[in-house]
Amino acid sequence: MKVLVALLLLVQLLSCKAVPFDPSHPLHLRFLDCDDPESEEAAAIAVDYINAHHHHGYKYALNSIEKIKVLPRRPTGEIFDLELDLLETVCHIVNPLPVENCTVRPLTDHVVEGDCDVKLLKLDGHFSVLSTQCHSTPDSAEDVTQICPNCPTLALLNDTRVITAVDLALAQYNRGQDGAFFKLLEIGRAQIQHFPDIVDVEFAIVATTCSAKDAQEHVGDCQLLPKDQVQFGFCNAAVLTKNNITVSCTIYEHQPGVTHHHLTHDHLGGQLPTVVKGFKHHDLRHSHHSSVHGKSESSSAEAFVGLPPAVPVVKRSVDPAIPAPPVGPGPKLPVCPGRIRHFQV
Ligand SMILES: *[C@@H]1O[C@H](CO)[C@@H](O)[C@H](O)[C@H]1NC(C)=O
Ligand SMILES: *[C@@H]1O[C@H](CO)[C@@H](O)[C@H](O)[C@H]1NC(C)=O
Ligand SMILES: *[C@@H]1O[C@H](CO)[C@@H](O)[C@H](O)[C@H]1NC(C)=O
Repeated sequence: MKVLVALLLLVQLLSCKAVPFDPSHPLHLRFLDCDDPESEEAAAIAVDYINAHHHHGYKYALNSIEKIKVLPRRPTGEIFDLELDLLETVCHIVNPLPVENCTVRPLTDHVVEGDCDVKLLKLDGHFSVLSTQCHSTPDSAEDVTQICPNCPTLALLNDTRVITAVDLALAQYNRGQDGAFFKLLEIGRAQIQHFPDIVDVEFAIVATTCSAKDAQEHVGDCQLLPKDQVQFGFCNAAVLTKNNITVSCTIYEHQPGVTHHHLTHDHLGGQLPTVVKGFKHHDLRHSHHSSVHGKSESSSAEAFVGLPPAVPVVKRSVDPAIPAPPVGPGPKLPVCPGRIRHFQV
């Protein structure tokens, strides 16, 4: 028996020694390429989570997985640490389309890029999000005009011309239909063209208890529909003068359980939300800590809106002329960043 134990210990000792020691790569790290299907699965879950907890503006689509790190978790499971590059889509958060079906804005439409650090737990083959930390930035106006000299760039969401254009466009929409009267929920983005001066706006709307006709007489009495009937819409409009407005709105079916309470609650006083004053887009910036299997973590399901210090967006320069470093003998290093799904900003 003693011999057996000694033998076992010896085997263990030998097998430990057999692993090469490299201080920069801890032994317990499992390497995954950024384009590994397992990395992509984790990223897809993270993106869905980010979109579900993003309270203003548009849904974001994955552009590339920049980094991934896998660490063991005691007593079981693994922690996935990901850095993701996202792009704004044309779908506002009130749009029920899944993000996979939402078009990413082309470079000529002044793209907005998102950067997220995400932590997930993988337990028994299932991922759950532990935390996310994101921020987003519009491409520079110089970049836009360089590829498209006449393309309008993003305007401030609280620009007087923008607010006037939204009011005129929504009034025209309400005059032209005989369904419910809609109120403004949020201005999504705005661009001002010159010669001729056209204000292009996008905005989310919400249905009230009034019909569009009733509202002409007593708009003050028009309340939002109750939570279990709440109905949203989204409009695109181009406003040249007050008599020359093109507006088109899509009204979505009521979706059970979807209330967007933060939008309906906070921003319907007729006032612009403070979050947009002085900004050209709705920042993806938020950090969120979920309560998955965590005893020490808060069990709140609400997103915690924190304000981490601003971090400049570091633009990655990929030179296709530089070949990938040769894979020689020794430990295999993960291949990152991963492929770009849309385009390089
Ligand atoms: C989303 O796209 C998929 C694949 O293209 C399609 O099968 C599905 O019907 C679309 N869903 C919606 C809601 O449009
Ligand atoms: C609105 O402006 C456009 C662009 O200048 C012009 O082509 C169109 O005829 C105008 N429509 C009306 C109704 O004035
Ligand atoms: C927009 O908001 C910013 C920040 O509150 C303010 O400085 C600016 O004057 C506002 N612009 C307009 C046109 O109201």
